[in-house]
This record gives sequence, structure tokens and C-alpha cells, in this order.
Amino acid sequence: MWLINSSIGRKVVMSVTGMALILFMTFHCCMNIVALFSGEAYNMVCKLLGANWYAVVATAGLGALAVCHIVYAFLLTAQNRRARGAERYAVTERPDKVEWASQNMLVLGIIVLLGLALHLFNFWYNMMFAELVGMHTALEPTDGFGLIVETFKNKLYVVLYIIWIVALWFHLSHGFWSAMQTIGINGKVWFERWKIIGIVYVTLLMLAFLVVVLAFAFGRAPSLCCAA
Ligand code: HEM
Repeated sequence: MWLINSSIGRKVVMSVTGMALILFMTFHCCMNIVALFSGEAYNMVCKLLGANWYAVVATAGLGALAVCHIVYAFLLTAQNRRARGAERYAVTERPDKVEWASQNMLVLGIIVLLGLALHLFNFWYNMMFAELVGMHTALEPTDGFGLIVETFKNKLYVVLYIIWIVALWFHLSHGFWSAMQTIGINGKVWFERWKIIGIVYVTLLMLAFLVVVLAFAFGRAPSLCCAA
């Protein structure tokens, strides 16, 4: 099958799964912004998502997308290294006009992955997983708001999340236009336009995640008791 065997097929899989993950992050970011205004409203969304069958199916789909994206990233990197052969070692200087992020997508991807593992441990494990297996937790498994408050009281988590968000910004800002290129956007004018659209979009997305972390870290978020 060309999606597995050919290099362009593999790039298409990377692009489509990457764009789908950005779509999920957009939804997730909108949900997080609710936490800046009302703890009760945020927990209502958490209850709705909870461990209901549709949320579990969506999580499994999301996991499959992420696994596909990661496996193909390693396949493509191995294939590129094989194609370049010994040349990879002969040329050590960065060629002009090649972005730092584009040369370090795999390393950035690994930092993103480690951050995601920490994040899933902080939230998904204590919420959906706890509810599914009936695990005892300090907070109710649907109290996402309380969990955000507790997590960002710890300054080490604040620092690790900031590093994670910066790595995500580099990874996504390159990934966005690279995906556009793969799925056929060409022509110099549109190429440049998509690059700018991608950077603006990803910057706004990451700033929104960052604002939530900082708002909770510095105690600027609403309290659950007073939220209407
Ligand atoms: C920085 C601020 C963030 C906060 C406060 C936050 C909060 C949360 C919470 C409360 C949950 C559990 C939701 C539930 O089970 O109902 C969750 C799950 C999740 N988050 Fe985040 N998140 C943040 C950033 C991110 C980012 C940047 C990503 C993407 C890389 C991400 C990816 C995920 C994933 C994949 C899940 C599991 C989703 C599922 O169960 O289907 N989060 N997050």
C-alpha cells in the first residue's frame, strides 16, 4: 500500500494525523479557556466528557492518531537518514534558509512526547482512567478544575509545562506549513501565506495554553466556590 511503502504516502499520513491533532488541541484549548472564567462551567464540561462511552471512544481514536503520527515520524526519519547515507556526517553546518525547527523535528517531537506523558499522568490518569477503574483519588475524577489548581501550585510543573509549550510551538509552527506543502499547497504566494497563517494560528493556540498555566500558577483563576 502506497501509504505505507512510498515516501510521499508516509508524509501524507504524517500531515493528516498532525492536522487532526492540531484540531483536537484547538478544541482542548477552547475548553481550557472556560477554566479562566468559571470553575463550575469547566467541571460541567469535564463531567460531560468524563468516562462516558463516547468520550472513551474519542480518546481511543485520539490515541490511535497520536501513535500513527509518532510511528511514521520514526519511519520517515530513518528513511531520510538512509537516503542521505554518509553525507549526514560529512556536512555538519546548517544550510542557509533551513529553519532550526525543521532540522530538529524528531528531538522536538520527543520533548513533546515526554511532556504529553507527564500531562496524561497529571490529568487523564487521575480523571478518565480513575473513573474507569474505580481508583481512589484525592479529588473527584470529574473535578478537572480542582486538579488544575493543585497541579499548578507545584512550581516544577509550571516550569515543565512552559518548556513543553515552547517545544510544542516550535514543533507545530514548522509542522503546520510542512503539512500544507505535503497535501499540495504550492505556488510562492500561497506558500508564504500559509506559512504566516500557520505561525499566527499556532502562536495564538500556544499562548492560550500558556495563559491558563500562568493564571493558575499565579492564583489569577476564579475559585470554584464563587463561580456562577
Ligand atoms: C497547558 C494547559 C493544559 C491544561 C490545564 C490541560 C488540562 C487537561 C485536563 C483537565 C484533561 C482531562 C480532561 C478530561 O478527562 O475530561 C486533559 C486531557 C488531555 N490533554 Fe490537556 N491540558 C493542557 C494542555 C494540553 C496540551 C498542550 C495538549 C496537547 C499536546 C494536551 C493534550 C491532552 C490530551 C491528549 C488529553 C487526554 C484527552 C482524552 O482523554 O481524550 N493538553 N488536559
